[in-house]
Formats: sequence, C-alpha cells, structure tokens
Amino acid sequence: MTELNPLKVVVFGLGYLGATHAACMAELGHEVLGIEVDQLRREKIADGHLPFYEPGLSELLRKHLASGTLRVSDSYAEAAEWGEVFFIAVGTPQKKGESRADLQYVDSVVEQIVPLMNRDAIILGKSTVPVGTCRRLTDRIDQLANDGVHVELAWNPEFLREGHAISDTLRPDRLVLGCDPGGRAEKVTYQVYSRIIDEGVPFLVMDTASAEIVKAAANSFLATKISFINAVAEVCEASGADIKQVADAIGYDDRIGSKFLNAGLGFGGGCLPKDIRAFQARAGELGASSAVGLLREVDFINMNRRTRMVEIARRACDGNLLGKRVAVLGASFKPESDDVRDSPALNVAGQMQLQGASVVVYDPEAIDNSAKVFPTLDYAPTAQEACAGADLVMVLTEWKEFSRLNPTQLGSEVRKKAVVDGRMCLDRRAWELAGWNYLC
Ligand code: UDX
Repeated sequence: MTELNPLKVVVFGLGYLGATHAACMAELGHEVLGIEVDQLRREKIADGHLPFYEPGLSELLRKHLASGTLRVSDSYAEAAEWGEVFFIAVGTPQKKGESRADLQYVDSVVEQIVPLMNRDAIILGKSTVPVGTCRRLTDRIDQLANDGVHVELAWNPEFLREGHAISDTLRPDRLVLGCDPGGRAEKVTYQVYSRIIDEGVPFLVMDTASAEIVKAAANSFLATKISFINAVAEVCEASGADIKQVADAIGYDDRIGSKFLNAGLGFGGGCLPKDIRAFQARAGELGASSAVGLLREVDFINMNRRTRMVEIARRACDGNLLGKRVAVLGASFKPESDDVRDSPALNVAGQMQLQGASVVVYDPEAIDNSAKVFPTLDYAPTAQEACAGADLVMVLTEWKEFSRLNPTQLGSEVRKKAVVDGRMCLDRRAWELAGWNYLC
C-alpha cells in the first residue's frame, strides 16, 4: 500500500469536469485550490451550490469546503505561488462555424500561469484536445517559463459521464497518462491517484499523442455504436423486424456487448457530438481519410434521427403539424441530467414548433435550462399538464418517470391517443391495450 502523500493540487476551470475533479481530489486526501474566472459560478461553488445537476456532487463539495481542504479563487498568482500539481479542466467547445475544437481557454491557462511559476511544476491536461496539442503547448511552455524553472506538461484525459461523475472519477475503468519519458509527470500522477491505483484501477502510461487520441477514439467509438444500431433500426423498420430484439440478441456476443445499443433519437450533449467533429477535423488535417469518412457518416446518421422523428410526428398528426398541440416529455440530452447542450429532444421540439405545432415541454430537471435556450416553447410543471389536450405525446428522453406513466390515466387528459416513443422506453403493449396509437 502506497502511503498517502497529500499534494497541493490546483484545478483550472470549475465546470462539470473541473468541479467534479476538484471535489474528488479533495476526497482522495489532497489539498485543493479551484480557480474559476466566472464570478457568478465561482461564488456559487464557494457557497457549495453547483450551477448544474449532478447526483452527490454538491454534498461532496460542501464537505470539503467546510473542512477547508478545498478552496476557490480567481487568482492565478495565488495558484502559482501555492500549487504543486496543476490540472487544466477548462472547456474545449466546438469552434463557431467550424468542426474543430476551440482551444482558446486551454491556451489561455498556459499563457497566464506559466510566467507566474517560480518553482518546478507539473501541469496535467484533462480537457479533451486534438492530438498534437500537448506537444504544441510544451513548446510554448519552454518559451514562457522563467529561467531555471522547469514546467512539465502531460495529458491525463477524463472519461466521466454526466450523472456518474463522482464514481467515474473515483472508480474509473482506467487512468490514462500521456507524458514524455524521463520526466517527473508519471511519478507525480501516480502520487495523485495512488489510492485508487492501489485499489486496482489500471494506470496506463503512454506518449502524449496516444493519450490525446485515446479520449477522442473512446467517444468516437461510443458514438459509432449508437449510430450503427440506429442504422440497423432503419433496416428493421423497413422490413418489419423488431430492433429491440435484434439489439438484445447481438449484445449477448461479448465482443459486441449490450451497452450503447439503444436505438432511438440518438446522441447529444456537451461531449459526444463536438468530440467526434473535432476528431474528424483533426483526422482531416492529418490526411487520415478513413476516420474522416466514418465519423462524418456517424454524425450524419445521428442528426438524421432528429429529422426522422419530426417526420414520424407529422405522420401521426395526419400529415400536418400546423395548429396541432404536441406534448414533448424530456428535454435534457439524457436522463438524470439537466444538461440541454445539443439535446436531441429540444432540437426536435424546436423543429416541431417551426412547422407550426404548439409545443409544450416537460422535463423533471431541465426546464430552467431549456427555457434559456428555447424561450419561445411552452413549458409545463408536470407530464400530465404538458399532455392536457395534446394531439400527440412524444417521449424524447428516457427518464424513469416516463416509463412509469399510466397510459390509461394519461389517455383521459389528451385530445388524441397518439404517442411517439423516441427512446423506446415505454411498454408498447400496455399503451396499445390502453387504446393508444404507439409509434417509434
Ligand atoms: C460521454 C462519454 O460517455 C464519457 O466517457 C465522456 O467523457 C463524455 O461524453 P456523457 O456526455 O455524459 O458522456 O453521455 P453518455 O452517457 O455517454 O450519453 C451520450 C448520448 O448518447 C446521450 O444523448 C444518450 O442519450 C445517447 N445514447 C446512449 C443513445 O442514444 N443510445 C445508447 O445506447 C446510449
């Protein structure tokens, strides 16, 4: 058993990734300083309030804020003076009007912190970046570092899923580190995670380019799996086969596996869509055309699901959405989340409205966020109220609450008993027995 040697850990960026990482680093026994430049977000987090919904995280945050092991600041000077290990956890969104990732926030952390460092330091990148970023920034650090100060940059990508952020950080499937041989990064990173490595989490050390690609490839594979099953769903639909049974049966093969084989409205969120586009763009720059073609198709199949869902809805409304009242159940990009970034559900709701439908949306957690992005949609406080007088009910995010809906009871609220199960999460037989026209 390695003895725990607490480190002074700085985390730049207290978004989803950074806030989780900071709280989990404190949970692993380190002293943590979180740096957040957005004043509102910083003050909320310093007060123990998360600006997003993640089960268990505010409790963990409050525990470590109260004990003083976790502090929050906006001062890069304080961070440089105090820290030993520096994690970069800022966002890498899609560049406006391009497929590439926008690296300005990652670059800015490096530009600001390195000239302030007066002792040797290790910087570990967690943000998802295109291959070659660590190499480029290492060259830049050599220009920025003060004389006699050695700042080493390595990449330690994050694989956390929203809704499982704490367990994915404290009990990950694997830890990946990309570093240059002969440096201190491997030893220090081992020290950071010694408790979980001792518990058996595989610690995979490789070169920096490989570590950057691991993250992009993992997300691209997940996206490919979803688009694959959705492509097969089209064949099932055209031939009268049952995609649920097909997916279930192929998932028994260990080599395939049953996870990420749920056909439906497809993937969205703050990671998968932008990550496959960034990987595609980088592959293109490098002349790796097979990856470009594959990922373009994965993206295309996925976006097509949304259009297809609107077509199914239009058909259910006798070919015309104009003046129809549609209840959309689910707005977050997946259940157990209030995140509506690139949400397939909201995208469909917006398209339906553009085609003349009057759309009422209900979601257990994501109404506030949805109303900010789509203020012109109507929102209801319960599923029943959203469905009142509806010509069509659409279930577009598979919250458990929706699979537990009573179709008989709901049947008395609507104008027409037609339901589109966009996530194949309803009991088809029960809905049909209750007199509904069930479409998926
Ligand atoms: C993802 C990766 O899982 C994680 O490892 C990475 O670090 C960040 O991106 P997350 O964005 O939280 O995590 O979502 P995830 O649970 O992977 O789901 C992504 C999307 O795929 C959701 O919109 C979900 O509804 C959809 N999905 C998932 C399907 O459409 N079908 C499936 O079978 C599974």
